Amino acid sequence: MLTFELLATDGLARRGRLQLNHGSVETPAFMPVGTYGTVKGVMPDALVEMGAQIILGNTFHLWLRPGLDVLRQFGGLHRFENWQRPILTDSGGFQVWSLGASAKVTEQGVHFASPVNGDKLLLTPEVSMQIQAVLNSDVVMQFDECTAYEVDGRVTGEEAARRSMQLSLRWAVRCRDEFARLENPNALFGIVQGGMYENLRAESVDALAELDLPGYAIGGVSVGEPKAEMERIVAHTPQRLPAGKPRYLMGVGTPEDLVYGVAHGVDLFDCVMPTRNARNGHLFTRFGDLRIRNARYKTDERPLDSTCACTTCRGFSRAYLHHLDRCGEMLGAMLASVHNLHYYLNLMREVRDALDAGEFATYRERFAADRARGV
Ligand code: GUN
Ligand code: ZN
Repeated sequence: MLTFELLATDGLARRGRLQLNHGSVETPAFMPVGTYGTVKGVMPDALVEMGAQIILGNTFHLWLRPGLDVLRQFGGLHRFENWQRPILTDSGGFQVWSLGASAKVTEQGVHFASPVNGDKLLLTPEVSMQIQAVLNSDVVMQFDECTAYEVDGRVTGEEAARRSMQLSLRWAVRCRDEFARLENPNALFGIVQGGMYENLRAESVDALAELDLPGYAIGGVSVGEPKAEMERIVAHTPQRLPAGKPRYLMGVGTPEDLVYGVAHGVDLFDCVMPTRNARNGHLFTRFGDLRIRNARYKTDERPLDSTCACTTCRGFSRAYLHHLDRCGEMLGAMLASVHNLHYYLNLMREVRDALDAGEFATYRERFAADRARGV
């Protein structure tokens, strides 16, 4: 099962430790995304070396390919992908939702055509729990509906956001019941919705807290809203969740967003940004972001980040990474992914150290000043 221990607090920021069936997670933590059972371009050994404590998988993608028979044969996702530390899986709600028009939401669940072969499929709270039990995910996410920020250029109104949030609450109850029926020994997290409406977020928090789940996520942010709107929700919602349970901000974000989230009481983050941006030549460093494709790096012998201890920065120059990117060589994407993930994981390590030392406010100022300095 799961325990969460609060080790220190500083204002709303928390330093904690999560105990899961495949190991513990020191928080605040960043979780690399491994949608299809692979953190794209990065070997599991490298993830361990750079300090990844827990990675994500996706119910929706793994259900379609390789499918449940193969995953059952391997006794779950850990052995299949050769990752023995904890795994969190998203429920499929967000991924089906991302299909847009081709998905139809009913009380029962979401009807959609498989993007792989066109088969008509129905994903429900029960099916999501059944898939995540086969995966043996350490953290199972409830099946939810991610409320859109806007549809056809129109911001979702309060009534539509309320109906969507209430559907997610009914689905949370069905998830809890099915999770219990399956006698799943792992942990089920609920997901707060409510769009950009603080009153709805508060209602969602209160109803989910009643279910007494072992952890809670904040969903429905970073879905195309202006940055100020996301910050308003992150400043509102995490601190209203039960203090003794872990809090997970889904799909967020930039390094600045992570530090902002920690300052407002978030414990866990995931985002495709470090890996996806790496593949597009967008590198994160202590001194700001760097576009490796830029001609200025053609002869630059320096590492990406002189303070970074990653494999990429210890062995390779900006000029070489620029060359690999220009030639479309896969090693370029791999080295960039290793660096970006190392940067994110190290950022969270520094945040934890600052919280342990009671110096988070000072750390936050230095972080902002360093990032503004420029590479
Ligand atoms: N990933 C990012 N946002 C969300 C969300 O609202 N729900 C789910 N299930 N996953 C997400
Ligand atoms: Zn590096």
